Amino acid sequence: MTDHSTSWTTCDGILFYCRAGFEKDCAAEISHRAGELAVPGYCQAQSNSGFLHFHVVDPEAMARLLRALDWRDLVFPRQWLGRLRRIEGLSEGRRVEEILDALPSELTAISQLLLEYPDTNAGKSLSRFCRRFHRPLSAGMQHAGVRMTPDSRAPRLHLFFEDSGAVELALSDPERCASWPQGIPRLRMPRGAPSRSTLKLEEAFLVLLQPRERSALLRPGATAVDLGAAPGGWTWQLIQRGLQVTAVDNGPMHEEIMASGLVDHRREDGFRYRPTRPVDLLICDMVEQPSRIADLMARWLQQGLCRAAVFNLKLPMKQRFRAVQDGLKRLPAADSRGRPLAIRCRQLYHDRDEVTVAVLPILS
Ligand SMILES: C[S@@+](CC[C@H](N)C(=O)[O-])C[C@H]1O[C@@H](n2cnc3c(N)ncnc32)[C@H](O)[C@@H]1O
Repeated sequence: MTDHSTSWTTCDGILFYCRAGFEKDCAAEISHRAGELAVPGYCQAQSNSGFLHFHVVDPEAMARLLRALDWRDLVFPRQWLGRLRRIEGLSEGRRVEEILDALPSELTAISQLLLEYPDTNAGKSLSRFCRRFHRPLSAGMQHAGVRMTPDSRAPRLHLFFEDSGAVELALSDPERCASWPQGIPRLRMPRGAPSRSTLKLEEAFLVLLQPRERSALLRPGATAVDLGAAPGGWTWQLIQRGLQVTAVDNGPMHEEIMASGLVDHRREDGFRYRPTRPVDLLICDMVEQPSRIADLMARWLQQGLCRAAVFNLKLPMKQRFRAVQDGLKRLPAADSRGRPLAIRCRQLYHDRDEVTVAVLPILS
């Protein structure tokens, strides 16, 4: 946590955003992480709400948790925020004043003010209210002496509205919390892509790879295999970047993708297919047991058939955090020559009942 403001010390818990319906999985993950850090606390969540609270009573344990959390290491949470306080029963004509009164006096400068709401149908009805309320609130804050600083490391202030009368005030650290409002990278469906699932791979490259890794891996002339490729949304992302792709699937590939001249379509079983030469990247979106997919990815990486892999693990209906842990345990920590691999895993915004994993060589 960047020590720009002592208001962090007044946080009494963490607010997590997640995909609605995955609150229990998020809670299982947070409880596991808190256990590893010896932070006693408890989760409070409502099914299908799209968020949950982790309460911590001991301030020292709270500080330990705040220092250790990084959104990049979390699977189910889209965002985490240090919770300052909750206000209920905001009155319509005095919302700005009531919020200003509740701000900790230590909070003197912020890099951004974000008005957010749960990513649910009910929550979305608050988007207009939040857009309109932003201007009077930021004016009121400036008037009250809370400065907007251009220092991008200064904390961001989040107001998370459950309805127009109840709000959580919370802080995020720009260096260790997701940068997108609501933790959601909004992507446009690209024209010409054959399926919406193209957005999953686009988001995976944006969220799971660092800029240096993207340019090292996704360069013109690099080679890739796409297992379970049809109709071609994932392959499309690769050929846009000039990669040569072997697309493995019994189903048909989109005509325009084949016309690119960059794709070799093999109607074969993805579990049996092996490339004649090692490729730079393996991607896989086959719908199968997560353990079977993780074992397949592990074999390719350990046998040196690919340098890196990006793939989905489809999750069961229950015990989904456990299924993720089991899948990740099956992946190798090093490649065929003993060089260490980084393993990153997240439930992306465009993922549904699945998580996306990237296994990559660690760049020097
Ligand atoms: C979710 S779709 C893939 C969508 C694709 N990523 C896209 O963006 O268009 C899953 C695909 O996996 C293929 N598939 C499932 N089992 C397979 C196997 N054993 N070998 C090859 N393809 C398989 C299916 O035919 C299906 O086209």
